[in-house]
Amino acid sequence: MKTIHVTASREYDVLIGAGLLDECGQRIAAAVPGAEKAVVYTDTTVFPLYAKRVTESLKAAGFTVLQDYFLAGEHSKTFRNWERILRFFTENRVSRSDVVVALGGGVVGDMVGFAAACYQRGVRLVQIPTTLLAAVDSSVGGKTAVDLPAGKNLIGAFWQPSLVICDTDTLQTLPDAVRRDGCAEIIKYGVLDGAALFSGLENSLPDEISEDILARCVEIKRDIVAADEFDTGARHLLNLGHTAAHAAELLSDYSLSHGSAVAMGLCSMARACAVRGLCAEEDAARIEALIKKCGLPTELPYPAEALAKAALSDKKRAGSTLPVITVEGLGRCAVQKIGASDYAGWLRQGGAR
Ligand code: GLY
Repeated sequence: MKTIHVTASREYDVLIGAGLLDECGQRIAAAVPGAEKAVVYTDTTVFPLYAKRVTESLKAAGFTVLQDYFLAGEHSKTFRNWERILRFFTENRVSRSDVVVALGGGVVGDMVGFAAACYQRGVRLVQIPTTLLAAVDSSVGGKTAVDLPAGKNLIGAFWQPSLVICDTDTLQTLPDAVRRDGCAEIIKYGVLDGAALFSGLENSLPDEISEDILARCVEIKRDIVAADEFDTGARHLLNLGHTAAHAAELLSDYSLSHGSAVAMGLCSMARACAVRGLCAEEDAARIEALIKKCGLPTELPYPAEALAKAALSDKKRAGSTLPVITVEGLGRCAVQKIGASDYAGWLRQGGAR
């Protein structure tokens, strides 16, 4: 098992290893002293797979366990469902000293995390990610949110968990498309980190995703979050490829998965940077080749103007400027503020119509 310690407004461990679901109760009890009730919140996909094991482990550790779930999918990440979660807390008299356990992928972690952040101004949260994407990205760092019709994650809060438990066994049985989705975020970390990790990923993805690779991604995120927890500068780097990705997800009415959208956004930005002479053609080509190797799409399927308009809803926009994350080489990415009206040009250089 690997343990990565995160230093932020709340300090916590990220545990990565096989078989952790069955011992989560003891570990949660140690991380949230004084909690009596544990609320396990999940979705319709994960509930039948893992809720029983998590519940039994929590009961064995002395918790009174409550559980509930919502319909799986990005369309569920709404205010209405967020309010349902809060009502469940109040109906079951959950108190601020109890603990909420978000069991599932990114949608569960984000929305249940946001409910935990708001309920009685904050109740302790444990993230148990069960998808690759959630394991390497969304479960760590404290971003919680719901979507609005105008865009993704537009309402949210920073609320660090008290513990993150990633049982790698849950990642072995993921449907192929869900696994590939997670590869997009892993490739993002490879581009951010540099040639050593990226070359390792070229040799191993998509078939072998070791505990070492997962831990390295979490360490990279840990370091960026420690430097800029509240996303005012360095943390923007984690949004490499995400401005175009969020715009494409919005235009697709969320029929496009997050990982596919990130893959397209990453390729688009690498190509635009190569066209602008910021990045060697060879590096952009390696990024695109690895994305293709993982069976992920490389072309944004919407016109540049439509994507740029959708990007105006991006929460990272500051007035008339958008921070874009440029790729200047493997391990050399930078946050650059551009005029929002220039973004369509970047997208066209990245290959969009
Ligand atoms: N997923 C981007 C971040 O946590 O900042």
